[in-house]
Amino acid sequence: MAAIAGSWITARIAPDWIHRNSPPTIRDFTGICTSLATSGRALLERLGWGSAETEKLADEYDEVSQRLAGQYRTASLSFPERFGVETETGFFLYAATRLVQPVTIVETGVADGRSSFIFLAALERNGSGRLHSFDVNPRAGVLVGEHDQWQLTICGRSAPESCFVQSLRRIGTVDLFFHDSDHRYLNQLLEYDYVWPLMKPNGLFASDDVDVSKAFIDFCKRRGLHPEFLFDSRKITGALRT
Ligand SMILES: C[S@@+](CC[C@H](N)C(=O)[O-])C[C@H]1O[C@@H](n2cnc3c(N)ncnc32)[C@H](O)[C@@H]1O
Repeated sequence: MAAIAGSWITARIAPDWIHRNSPPTIRDFTGICTSLATSGRALLERLGWGSAETEKLADEYDEVSQRLAGQYRTASLSFPERFGVETETGFFLYAATRLVQPVTIVETGVADGRSSFIFLAALERNGSGRLHSFDVNPRAGVLVGEHDQWQLTICGRSAPESCFVQSLRRIGTVDLFFHDSDHRYLNQLLEYDYVWPLMKPNGLFASDDVDVSKAFIDFCKRRGLHPEFLFDSRKITGALRT
């Protein structure tokens, strides 16, 4: 009787609902790329940057990591440390910002500001460029505080999407995008779909936590895009050059 009731329920759940609420499998990833990189440098090289270019950025990043560790010791944190981007992803974001030399970076999901700190450290070295970050929590961003090259927008929790979309209209075009906000399928897809048409050539489009929902894989398949992936210690980051 229980089995009959179970199959009756499953048959009535829309396949789309099941799809949206299941994480991708290894087969989903291997269906769209040949293998997963396990270091930031390997991901950069798969995306077409040379090893000589990426090697010299490793020393720069060591100094940034030390400054960031100092901020962690003194700032009054509000979010679990595991929210922050992982080690290899952090290096990847720093190096990509140095290599792309973006005029405009858009990131969603700030928490205490680990990724924001890393982007801004790279923009400081570049000597130009602006980071536009979005979160829904007014306590976001303590690792950075104030910064001349930073615009932090706190959207209301009731309609963060419309706040994000309206802000994008003001921002115009984007050289580097990084998703790290609400990782549910529909939010990820919404962000990708809104930002993609604003991307400038020779930029970078990236998303953390592409292992949480199938949105990034679906987005790439639908548009015939060929992403690369970084398997960090817990999470997977997807990336494409534009
Ligand atoms: C994984 S954390 C971001 C971590 C950050 N990138 C870092 O490296 O430290 C996710 C953040 O997304 C925010 N968030 C949740 N829903 C959001 C939304 N719809 N728009 C923007 N931010 C959102 C949360 O408040 C949280 O601060």
